[in-house]
Amino acid sequence: MIDLRSDTITKPTDAMRKAIYEAEVGDDVFGEDPTVNRLQEMVASMLGKQKAIYVSSGTMGNLLAIKANTNPGDEVILDAQSHIFYYEAAGTAAICGVQLNLVNGKRGSITKEQVEEKIRDLGNPHFPVTSLVSVENTHNRWGGVVIPIDEIKRIRELADERGLKMHMDGARLLNAQVASGISAGEFAKYFDTVAICFSKGLGAPMGSMIAADAETIDRVRRARKMIGGGQRQVGIAAAAALYAIENNVDRLVDDHDNAKRLAKALSILPGVEVNPDEVDTNIVYFDVTKSPMSAIDVMVKMSEQGVLMLPLDENRVRVVTHLGVDGNDIDKAIEAFSEVFTE
Ligand SMILES: Cc1ncc(COP(=O)(O)O)c(C=O)c1O
Repeated sequence: MIDLRSDTITKPTDAMRKAIYEAEVGDDVFGEDPTVNRLQEMVASMLGKQKAIYVSSGTMGNLLAIKANTNPGDEVILDAQSHIFYYEAAGTAAICGVQLNLVNGKRGSITKEQVEEKIRDLGNPHFPVTSLVSVENTHNRWGGVVIPIDEIKRIRELADERGLKMHMDGARLLNAQVASGISAGEFAKYFDTVAICFSKGLGAPMGSMIAADAETIDRVRRARKMIGGGQRQVGIAAAAALYAIENNVDRLVDDHDNAKRLAKALSILPGVEVNPDEVDTNIVYFDVTKSPMSAIDVMVKMSEQGVLMLPLDENRVRVVTHLGVDGNDIDKAIEAFSEVFTE
């Protein structure tokens, strides 16, 4: 099976498993896991922050960063298609006690003006306190879009003027780095907290990290304990993440090339709508409204050809490239697509 459902489905390679096997470990709740400590230092330095802290998932990273940046009753401004809004089980409401104020960004990129319009008047006691802006980079539901750094800088200026914090859901920040040539550290500079994931394109089985100043990381550590996220010999997982950062970043360019190639091939098939120029990284969404098939029909027919993908809604299908698929797999997937859409 050629599995294009997600970049989270990768399995650790032999070399990664060897790194896991050989990991030196200790009790991370005591701060004594040398592998976790090494990973935290490496990520903090990569993102230009004082400290970083290991958390078990991207969802936990966003949740704890938002908790550390807000008080219950506050409001957070973010794009309406954000992962935090769509797919994180309303943890921000249930656990942080904050309300989300959604903005319809342009392909996931919200503008300074849109944020400005949403900031509440602090003098009016009817309103919640706006305390945080969150940006997703790359943007999942907009098809792996890299958020333009110039707009991020403009939002940062506004945030500084109005006393807001900024969080980046950088689950795929290294895809943004590889695609744009702008370093993860340069993107991170404009944010108070940054969450990155090792379990997406980087190919580790688990784990995420939040980077921020030391005081914020202390608040995250307490919140992590509160929700049961303090783990013991978690160097086992950190070793895989270290391996991923050291070995699997540069190769993301292959995933991006494969995604672009898939999008180009799809764009010339009857009934398929996709703009390959809008494929920045490793996620491709295509629309089948003009085909006689629904997204589910496409998924079923393609799975009969040995290619897996995810229907997103009635007419939209998602395919994602990752280190578990190579150029030959993409050739086969393209062949299968052309059979399914021209039969
Ligand atoms: C942009 C983004 N943020 C956060 C997450 C959550 O990560 P996890 O599944 O590790 O909780 C995902 C998962 O795909 C994601 O795409």
